Amino acid sequence: SASFCLSLLLLLFFLSVSLFVDRFLYAMRLHDDQLRDISARFQAEMKKGLSAESNAAATLKMLPTHVCSTPDGSENGEFLAVDLGGSKFKVLQVKVRKEAGRVRRSVEMQEQTYPLPKELLIGRGVELFDHVSECLKDFLLQKKISLEKKHPLGFTFSFPCQQTALNQGLLLNWSKNYWARGLQGKDMVNTLRQAISRGMDVDVLALVNDTVGTMMTCGFDDQHCEVGLIIGTGTNACYMEELRHIDLVEGDEGRMCVNTEWGAFGDDGALDDYLTEFDRDIDAASINPGKQCLEKMVSGLYLGELVRLVVLKMTKLGLLFDGRVTDALRTKGKITTAHVAAMEQYKDGLKNTRDILLDLSLNPSPDDCIAVQHVCTVVSFRSSNLVAAGLAAILTRIRQNRKLKTLRITVGVDGTVYKTHPQYAKRLHKVVRRLVPDCHVRFVLSESGSSKGAAMVTAVAQRVTARRHQ
Ligand code: GLC
Repeated sequence: SASFCLSLLLLLFFLSVSLFVDRFLYAMRLHDDQLRDISARFQAEMKKGLSAESNAAATLKMLPTHVCSTPDGSENGEFLAVDLGGSKFKVLQVKVRKEAGRVRRSVEMQEQTYPLPKELLIGRGVELFDHVSECLKDFLLQKKISLEKKHPLGFTFSFPCQQTALNQGLLLNWSKNYWARGLQGKDMVNTLRQAISRGMDVDVLALVNDTVGTMMTCGFDDQHCEVGLIIGTGTNACYMEELRHIDLVEGDEGRMCVNTEWGAFGDDGALDDYLTEFDRDIDAASINPGKQCLEKMVSGLYLGELVRLVVLKMTKLGLLFDGRVTDALRTKGKITTAHVAAMEQYKDGLKNTRDILLDLSLNPSPDDCIAVQHVCTVVSFRSSNLVAAGLAAILTRIRQNRKLKTLRITVGVDGTVYKTHPQYAKRLHKVVRRLVPDCHVRFVLSESGSSKGAAMVTAVAQRVTARRHQ
């Protein structure tokens, strides 16, 4: 019929535009063989980071977290949590209760998001932490939480820290869009303690990376959760490693959670064959050139910008918008990851694409819209593919550590990209299952995971401290 022919024509039209974008972006389309190759390099780098001799030269820092068990059910009490380094800066109160006669425990949370002015991220470190402390005080007043009582606090701090204990951590370097002066090499627990003004009796008991918090939150409900994954403003993963493999920590029995800091993968050139001119441009324009190579190909801080750079180049070459470039399209940050998510929406994607392009003062034809939507797909697909390659390396390592033929495991996930991009999660799950068929992976979204988990870790820390004082 006529309508069938029309649909067929439209489909052909769609396919031909997609194909032409695919050809233009062939270097961003990674096949399974390439992903397996990246995964193998990743596994080698994990080994390098775990060994004392090679750690200094490794891009994967494999940081010991001093979290040695996933939640065991005895967590109890009221805790404060501060969460710094994600897409939002938050203060929370978390109440963990074991209800009499019930197996399950309940978690109650009150949280407040506070604005974090951009200048603070790149200003003096002292001012950043003063702001944190003021917000904490405001939170206690707002929520009418007693200022008299002593409050145990868990600090989710989503940056690489070298920890010799749960309540100590030297900041190795900043990442994402943070570059506050005077804090590198300093202990972040102490820095927070010093900033917390008089009049508040707060005891900072634990410093927790967001990946670890996410794993712990999800471990509260699922014993098999031994991996934490963040795909948000930045990206990173942690997992439970055998203590005997962690050279930097004494002891051989049991396991400890390791923060891989995988965002830095590729900083030594390991991903050079896969980098495009767009990745190099992103890096050159960032506040940390040469650092966080994988993160810049994957995370929310950069996906929108990658799309913009590709679209700009295609326009300059006359492949889009009749070659007409606008000032908006030339401006850094004009396309965000939220835009990318909107453009890839199932039903309204094309309409959203048109609206977004119009907002950039462009005059898109229907095939321009299809092409730009497809650019988004290629860029966000590459991101989930790279995460899948990293995750496959971690899962394979855990399976081999335990000498298992098949591994059953749960991955706790959080982060704006994973949560808000309409197709990201599904694509990621599919590729991981294809890359590691011998691992039965369950993915669990861990809402507010990083802060809830920090409270769990704090609960354990408090119990241990209390026991020591008995
Ligand atoms: C960056 C940080 C890392 C964090 C991740 C996700 O990669 O270095 O510590 O886990 O972002 O927020």
